[in-house]
Amino acid sequence: MKRIVVLTGAGISAESGIRTFRDSGGLWEEYDIMDVATFEAWEQNRDLVMEFYNQRRKQLYEVKPNEAHYALVDLEKDFDVRIITQNVDDLHERAGSSHVMHLHGELKKVRSTVDDSLVYDLDGWELKVGDHCEKGSQLRPHIVWFGEPVEMIPAAADLSSTADIYVIIGTSLNVYPAAGLVGYVRPGTPVYLIDPGEMSVGHIPGVRVIREKAGRGTRQLAEMLRSGKSG
Ligand code: OAD
Repeated sequence: MKRIVVLTGAGISAESGIRTFRDSGGLWEEYDIMDVATFEAWEQNRDLVMEFYNQRRKQLYEVKPNEAHYALVDLEKDFDVRIITQNVDDLHERAGSSHVMHLHGELKKVRSTVDDSLVYDLDGWELKVGDHCEKGSQLRPHIVWFGEPVEMIPAAADLSSTADIYVIIGTSLNVYPAAGLVGYVRPGTPVYLIDPGEMSVGHIPGVRVIREKAGRGTRQLAEMLRSGKSG
């Protein structure tokens, strides 16, 4: 079976009703990254950071996977599909994808502030000041904040280098190191990018752009790949 490696970003969850970050109306228009998505913010303004992620987590219980998530699950019938997602939602898993790697953490998980290896599933949507790990330290969102290392990058780079077909869906490719993963794809590998926005793709040799929203674009690509089964 040919292997399809898929890099997803906020755009794949947009049709589920989750806001992206950098589009007009995106989250970073309303919030300053430095106020909610850094360790310094957590130290200085814990209530705001906690509330920001609590709201995101609460919303996650109200939304559902969309056609794009399901199209990727369906592709598993014909391809070995591996997903690398920048998203902290669990919509790929809930749709039924078998292999999902989260680069930037997971909203429904929390971890110790003294021992990174202590990661827990949060019960419900609300993390509170005073919720402690088994070592007695405050729990924090299991999110990779700006300035923190992206531990999964070596594994994601290795996975990218094994792709027979590489697909990028719904990411502005603004955030490194995730945006650099396509650089690990072997030369000559077909690369597809699905995004309705204007993107500069000059750094991705031979990329085929499908300028559609994720649902429609992923369905189209799936049909194309299935009919050729070669990409
Ligand atoms: P961005 O908000 O930067 O980019 C979203 C992309 O999705 C843009 O290219 C849009 O054109 C596209 N888009 C919008 N609607 C779409 C739809 N219906 N279908 C398909 N694409 C659509 O989000 P990311 O690139 O995912 O990190 O952002 C990367 C990281 O920056 C995030 O993981 C997050 C953020 O800060 C952390 O929080 C650590």
